[in-house]
Amino acid sequence: MITGAGSGIGRAAAELFVSRGCQVVAVDVNAEALEWAADNVQVICVAGDVSAASTNTAMVDAALHTWGRLDIAVLNAGTVGGPGFEADGAIERFDRLLAVNLRSVALGIRHCAPAIRLTGADGAIVATASTSGMGGDPGNWAYNASKAGVINLVRAAAIDYAVQGIRINAVAPGPTETGMTQGLRGLPELHRAMARRVPMQRWGEPCELAEAIWFLASPAASFITGVTLPVDGGLSASAGHFDLPSAP
Ligand SMILES: NC(=O)c1ccc[n+]([C@@H]2O[C@H](COP(=O)([O-])OP(=O)(O)OC[C@H]3O[C@@H](n4cnc5c(N)ncnc54)[C@H](O)[C@@H]3O)[C@@H](O)[C@H]2O)c1
Repeated sequence: MITGAGSGIGRAAAELFVSRGCQVVAVDVNAEALEWAADNVQVICVAGDVSAASTNTAMVDAALHTWGRLDIAVLNAGTVGGPGFEADGAIERFDRLLAVNLRSVALGIRHCAPAIRLTGADGAIVATASTSGMGGDPGNWAYNASKAGVINLVRAAAIDYAVQGIRINAVAPGPTETGMTQGLRGLPELHRAMARRVPMQRWGEPCELAEAIWFLASPAASFITGVTLPVDGGLSASAGHFDLPSAP
């Protein structure tokens, strides 16, 4: 099961899992964005808002009824944005962003874990956090708080579920070329400036996140739980005090 599978990292993960023989439940609030999977016999699509319990029930039911099992849940759907602290509607926007980015991960774990247990095999849950959950960005307080929440939720949930054979981890993307960051491509100076803060001096690609999600979900990560793996070209390795070395 992969949420946010209509675009960016979620879509890349869904395509990778399909290419490696998995049967996938692709979930997205944007039904049209799931059309890429409409004719794929290895994919069943569920349209809905992952911050709602009803969508979580529907996606788990789809996995159990269509594929007869649930081994892996990738809780990846997320959103950005929000006004300044003192703007009108700031707290309502904060509540909504926390619901989509953090409540959805708690709901996803709550709904998926019993289905994974029912399946009887060792299972894995991988959430998508962010390097923005490891520190603050200007004007991004709600997003920063939501992704910091994901990182610690994953730690706590991993402890609760470890003895049940369910590993729970996260990936933390740095700046990645997806639908979410599309607008920044129209601001070339800012786009380049963000790349310059990354030790590898570039943006990430969705397929690079998909490979990390695959790894954390796979038996290759059988003794790894409760971690957030940065997939960020070294961004989170830098203390940010000095200009980074540029390419020779
Ligand atoms: N792109 C980046 O630079 C970046 C960096 C760090 C973290 N992330 C995280 O990666 C994850 C994937 O984002 P992306 O960059 O691929 O963005 P994206 O916008 O390309 O894809 C996100 C998908 O999630 C779906 N979605 C949004 N809200 C939803 C909801 N309430 N219910 C169901 N689906 C919903 C959207 O319709 C979209 O298809 C997000 O959690 C995001 O916060 C992205």
